[in-house]
Amino acid sequence: MSGLFVTFEGPEGAGKSTNLQYLAERLRAAGCDPLLTREPGGTPIAEQIRGLLLANHDEAMSDDAELLLMFAARAQHLDQVIRPALAEGRVVISDRFTDATYAYQGGGRGIDTQRIAALENWVQGALRPDLTLLFDISVEQGLARARARSALDRFEQQDRAFFDAVRSTYLARAAAAPARYRVIDGGGPLESVQAALEPAIALILERWHA
Ligand code: TMP
Repeated sequence: MSGLFVTFEGPEGAGKSTNLQYLAERLRAAGCDPLLTREPGGTPIAEQIRGLLLANHDEAMSDDAELLLMFAARAQHLDQVIRPALAEGRVVISDRFTDATYAYQGGGRGIDTQRIAALENWVQGALRPDLTLLFDISVEQGLARARARSALDRFEQQDRAFFDAVRSTYLARAAAAPARYRVIDGGGPLESVQAALEPAIALILERWHA
C-alpha cells in the first residue's frame, strides 16, 4: 500500500495555509482523513530546527548551514511522519517541502541546484511529491500580507530581489514539470481561489479511491 503525497508551495503571503485547511475539510467531508504537516517542522525535533531557522539571530547563518538544517529537519520528518503515513496508505499534505529549498536556498540564496539535488537524492531516495499545488502571488501583494500578519521572521526580512528569485524559481519548476504541479492564483478573493482548487480536490479523491 502506498498513499498519496501532496505538497503546498508558494512565496510568502500566497494563502497556502488557509487553503490547506480548506482542502483538508473538503477531503474529510468525502471520507478521506489526510495527515496534515509542515516544513520545516512536523516532528518535535524538526520543529526545534524550524525555530533555529526562522529566528532572528545576532550571528549571521551561513547559506550552507541553512541548507543543511532544512534537510536535517526533512530527514527527521520523513523518517518519523511522512514515510510511515504513506506506508499506511494515507494522503499526506505538507505545507512546503523540497520545492521550497530550490526556491529559497537555490533561487533566493543562490546555492547551486546540483548541491540541492544531491541532498534531495540522499535524504529522500526516490520519494517525490505526487502532486504540488503552487500558490502564486505578486511579490508586493504577498509581502504586504505577510507584513500585516505578525513580526517578520528571518526569511520574511529578505529583500525584494530575494523574493523575485523565489517566485521565479517556483514558476520555472512548475513549468518544467507540469504533470506534477497545479499553479493557483493566490492573489484573488478567497472564493475564486477555492474554486480554482476544485480540479485538484477531484484529482486527490480519484487517486485516493484508486
Ligand atoms: P512558512 O512561513 O510557510 O511556514 O515557511 C517557513 C519559511 O521557511 C518560509 O519563509 C520559507 C522557508 N523555507 C525555506 O527557506 N526552505 C525550505 O526548504 C522550507 C521548507 C521552507
